[in-house]
Amino acid sequence: MPIHITGTGSYTPERVLTNADLEAMVDTSDEWIRTRTGIHQRHIKAEDQATSDLALEAAQAALDAAGVSAEELDVLLVATCTPDSPMPGSATIVQDKLGAKNAFAMDLNAACSGFLYALECARGLLESGRHRKALVIGAESMSSIVNWEDRTTCILFGDGAGAAVVEYRETPGGLGLASLGANGALKELLNIPAGGSREPLSEEALQDHRNCIKMSGQEVFKHAVSHMTRTAKQLLAEADWQADELALVIPHQANQRILEAIRSRVGVEKDKVFVNVDRTGNTSAASVGIALDEAVRSGRLQPGDKVMLLAFGAGFTWGGFLLEWSKA
Ligand code: ACO
Repeated sequence: MPIHITGTGSYTPERVLTNADLEAMVDTSDEWIRTRTGIHQRHIKAEDQATSDLALEAAQAALDAAGVSAEELDVLLVATCTPDSPMPGSATIVQDKLGAKNAFAMDLNAACSGFLYALECARGLLESGRHRKALVIGAESMSSIVNWEDRTTCILFGDGAGAAVVEYRETPGGLGLASLGANGALKELLNIPAGGSREPLSEEALQDHRNCIKMSGQEVFKHAVSHMTRTAKQLLAEADWQADELALVIPHQANQRILEAIRSRVGVEKDKVFVNVDRTGNTSAASVGIALDEAVRSGRLQPGDKVMLLAFGAGFTWGGFLLEWSKA
C-alpha cells in the first residue's frame, strides 16, 4: 500500500544566534564550535513564540505544498520534547489554529528521533485504512531547555519546525522500509532530570539547572555514530540497495563530525549527505523535517530518487527510513 510524502514545510525563527554572539555569553570560541561541531549559527525563537507557533508555520507550508486543506486531515502528530506546556499537547493547539477540525491530534516524545517515530506511526495509521491524510510535524524550542551558562550544551541547539503531509496514493514508491529502536537503560547520558513527576521543579532544582539538558557529550557521540551506522547498513541490506544507489541521505543534524563518521562507515559519497547543521544547529525532533523540506525546495530530490532518513536522540531512541521520492 503506497504511502507518500506529498508536501513538506519548515520554519526557523527570525533571530539568529551566531558563534560570535555565544563568545560573549560563555567561555567558548567560534573556532572551537566550528571545528568540534560544524555549527556556525542557530535560530532562536522570539520570547512570545512557543513550539506550537513554530509548528504552525511549518504545517501551513506543508499543507500548501501538498495542496491539502486543514479540514481534510484526520491525523495530526507533533513530535517534540519541548511542548508549549505539560498539558495539553502542542498538537491540539496546532490543530485548533490550523482549523484541522476533523483530525485527532497528539504529541509524541522520542527526542531527536521524534520525526521518524511520528512518520512511522502516521504510516501505520494510514495503512490501517481508517485514516486518509496525516500531518507529521517535528517542532522544538530547544532554547527553552538549554542552560545558557553551560558551554558544553548551549552551543549545540537551535529552534525550528519541519512538517510533512503523508497520504495514500496509487503511485508506486513512497515510504519504504523503516527501522526504529530504543534503549532506555542509557537515559542518564542525555536527559532533563527535573520538571516531571520523578523530580518536580523546586528552587533547588532550578538553582542546579536540573530543569535543563544534561549530557555526556562523548558517550552520546559514540552511540549516535554506532546506532545510525548500524541502522543504515541494516536497512540497505534488507532492501538490497547499495549505498551508492542512494541519491540523498538526510540525517538528524546534530554535529558535522557525527555526520561525517556515519557517511564514511556506510560508504556514501560526501555530496550525497544533506547538511544544514551549520545554519540550524541541533533542532532535535525538528531536524530531519527541516532538512527534508530544504532538500525538496532546493531541488535536491527528483522523482524516483532513493533516499534514507536517519535519526538518534535521548532515550536513547533511533531510527531510519528508506523512501523513493515521488511527485505523487
Ligand atoms: N567551548 C570551548 N571549550 C569547550 C566547550 C565550548 N563550547 N565545550 C567543552 N569545551 C572543552 C571541555 O571543557 C574540554 O576541556 P578540557 O580538555 O580542558 O577538559 C574540551 O573542550 C574537550 O571537551 P570534549 O567534551 O572532549 O569535546 P568533544 O570533542 O567531545 O566535543 C561535543 C564535545 C561537541 C559536545 C561532542 O561530544 C558532541 O557533539 N557530542 C554529541 C552530543 C550531541 O550531539 N548531543 C545532542 C543530542 S543527541 C543527538 O542529537 C545525537
